[in-house]
Amino acid sequence: MSAAALKRAAAARAVDLVQDGMRLGLGTGSTAAIFVELLGARVRDGLSVVGVPTSEATHRAAEAAGIALTTLDETPELDLTVDGADEIDGQLRLIKGGGGALLREKIVAAASRRMVVIADGTKQVATLGRFPLPVEVVPFGLGATRRAVAQALARAGCPGEITLRTGPDGAAFLTDGGHLILDAHPGRIPDPEALAAALAALPGVVEHGLFLGLCTGAILAADESAGARLV
Ligand code: A5P
Repeated sequence: MSAAALKRAAAARAVDLVQDGMRLGLGTGSTAAIFVELLGARVRDGLSVVGVPTSEATHRAAEAAGIALTTLDETPELDLTVDGADEIDGQLRLIKGGGGALLREKIVAAASRRMVVIADGTKQVATLGRFPLPVEVVPFGLGATRRAVAQALARAGCPGEITLRTGPDGAAFLTDGGHLILDAHPGRIPDPEALAAALAALPGVVEHGLFLGLCTGAILAADESAGARLV
């Protein structure tokens, strides 16, 4: 199966978790986009749900798919969020934010009773950290914040290079919230909880891509599983 087919298998399995009347968090990324597309087809068949998008891109996709949208102001508690991930370990700890939507993704996941990750099986890792860890920061004081992030990584036992994310045009990538992203390259993160606490304590850091204690289940599609499996 191609990576695209595996993502589709995981997304299709997640659509089966959706029940009439549910309040949904709608994730961001290529796998979540397939979920939104498939959910739209179910909505056109009569399923009634409302969704909170985790990015402007997902907002546009969900609107185009005919999914009724709400906000966390109108609907502060959600039943289920379905989102992709960049890495997932055996304790359902995640790295997210490869698409730059980590802030809204984390707010939405935290407002949800359940968060199910959909991904192809290659996202499963023994230890988080091979995928660059996104750290969303405010533009003011970038140099000082970058230095503090580097020190936090070193103190948590995982020093590594830090790069400012750029877009296709070479300019600094701006998130939906108007912030910058520093991508940290620790290679492996031996203690995600310690690193998360250290990063969260830094002025200038808006959010980081470690999702700990938020994911309640994962659908990881792998070739040998003839589709997708829920873990
Ligand atoms: C978006 O900011 C990310 O958290 C995505 O959910 C993550 O990068 C997974 O994306 P894919 O489904 O495209 O791999």
